[in-house]
Amino acid sequence: MSTPDAALSGTFAIGGDLVVNRLGFGAMRITGRGIFGPPADHDEAIRVLKRLPEMGVNFIDTAESYGPNVSEELIREALFPYPDDLVIATKAGFQRSGPDAWQIDCRPDVLKRGLEGSLKRLGVEQIDLWQLHRIDSKVDRKLQFETIAGFRDSGKVRHVGLSEVSVADIEEAGKYVPIATVQNRYGPTDRHSDDVLAYCTEHNIGFIPWAPLGSGRLVRADSVLEAVARRNDATTSQVAIAWALQRSPVVLMIPGTSKVAHVEQNTAAAALNLSAADVAELDALG
Ligand SMILES: NC(=O)c1ccc[n+]([C@@H]2O[C@H](COP(=O)([O-])OP(=O)(O)OC[C@H]3O[C@@H](n4cnc5c(N)ncnc54)[C@H](OP(=O)(O)O)[C@@H]3O)[C@@H](O)[C@H]2O)c1
Repeated sequence: MSTPDAALSGTFAIGGDLVVNRLGFGAMRITGRGIFGPPADHDEAIRVLKRLPEMGVNFIDTAESYGPNVSEELIREALFPYPDDLVIATKAGFQRSGPDAWQIDCRPDVLKRGLEGSLKRLGVEQIDLWQLHRIDSKVDRKLQFETIAGFRDSGKVRHVGLSEVSVADIEEAGKYVPIATVQNRYGPTDRHSDDVLAYCTEHNIGFIPWAPLGSGRLVRADSVLEAVARRNDATTSQVAIAWALQRSPVVLMIPGTSKVAHVEQNTAAAALNLSAADVAELDALG
């Protein structure tokens, strides 16, 4: 495996001004079972986070609901005072009652509490990228978009993003506040958001695939991924990461892991250049 260097993935300017290496890190897996409570191995989680700047990873995705609070608290514990170039993206919109239990709640007061909590836990005066984790079907949409526009106007949030949205959602929200990024589930075998990716590419909106490794399932098996991996002397997770990075210059990757060996392996995928034939085979999976 080559020395992991996220800079080899190229850069993207979030909202036109926050420049990050396109291969980042998803900080959901550094929590307990069911994304609830503290991680089984606290010290390994801290080592994973401390390894990021050493490898040039300067984009971290988290959320107040990961733990809840645990992921943001560990990021601060491991990395504060933050490197100048580090961009931390967080989210609000989910309440947690136990392992694997997620309740959407985007009432304005709940979102405001979420933002204030993230500012405090991360120890910052402004969130670089604040994402609405879901649009809540039980709350007036206009109210949700006006609330997040207010966050940006107040200066507590620099850029705003959405998650699990359609093109129509992005256009509607964009009437209230500029949308810098979209985070939808996406990977070589999971292509329901191809149209959203095309829209983001056309409008220079960052596209952040979540579960880019199929939440770990791609690591284990898919014969096409395995064949491409063998040809490139790589792993299946590295192939999935390289494929997404090559798919569009607006893609920002946030593979998640709780282990140093895995974050090193995933970051090393920045050096992997898939051939046109490899890409065509992987494209056909969709
Ligand atoms: N917007 C949303 O609604 C949403 C939803 C889910 C996730 N997210 C974000 O997206 C990020 C990524 O999603 P994800 O964590 O669900 O899924 P993922 O990145 O597709 O896969 C993570 C899983 O793969 C395993 N893994 C990672 N690298 C590996 C490697 N090199 N070899 C073997 N196994 C490996 C991890 O286990 P180990 O810990 O054992 O390595 C973990 O179980 C999250 O961290 C979070 O920031 C957003």
